Amino acid sequence: MGKDVIVACDFASAEQVFTFLDNFTGRKPFVKIGMELFYAEGPQIVREIKQRGHKIFLDLKLHDIPNTVKKSMSVLSRLDVDLCNLHAAGTVRMMEAAIEGLTRPDGTRPLLIAVTQLTSTDQESMENDLLIREPIDEVVMHYAANAKKAGLDGVVCSPLEAGKVHERCGAQFLTVTPGVRFADGDIGDQKRVMTPAEAKRIGSDYIVVGRPITAAEDPVAAYERCVAEFVD
Ligand code: C5P
Repeated sequence: MGKDVIVACDFASAEQVFTFLDNFTGRKPFVKIGMELFYAEGPQIVREIKQRGHKIFLDLKLHDIPNTVKKSMSVLSRLDVDLCNLHAAGTVRMMEAAIEGLTRPDGTRPLLIAVTQLTSTDQESMENDLLIREPIDEVVMHYAANAKKAGLDGVVCSPLEAGKVHERCGAQFLTVTPGVRFADGDIGDQKRVMTPAEAKRIGSDYIVVGRPITAAEDPVAAYERCVAEFVD
């Protein structure tokens, strides 16, 4: 798959997400469904959005014992999502089990990426709460390398880390990057942001954009602007 803009549909109900998606009569955006919408509406929301012609990134960040993750990934694979994820902290063995579960009888499977350290975790909380004493950048790169070793397709990371991840894990290893804002836009609660054009320059493969599109006065125009800056 080539570069694309993924729209984070952080809505609490099917009604809200369909009202939003109804705006898109031309190009159908790649959509991210997160825990909030999935837990509110269940797997049917995935089928319905898929049926409308959207690609889907199901952002459920699995983290459990390998056998449970394997069986759960097998269910997600049958839901026909295009991209899903897990926590690299679950270990290489858990990630390998996830790939096994995700792979369909015909050998195809959705793309699978790993969350390294959440961006809400900083050096201090990592050391104090998790007793991980290494510098956080090294931990992120180590987790990315573990994901690659397990056969995953990439990681979720800050656009600022995308270049380094490619250096360490290869150009084909996908970087999916949130924290994107327009140069003239509101950054909200994101701390380290990049414009779509900068994310493109630095080598992100997919950008995940929520509020700059979902809260825009004209969401279609905002989406098209992202595509123009990042993809075209
Ligand atoms: O609205 P906004 O563009 O900030 O949305 C970004 C999306 O990416 C949200 O769904 C958020 O949960 C997700 N995300 C993030 N930072 C991470 C991982 C995921 O913003 N490190």
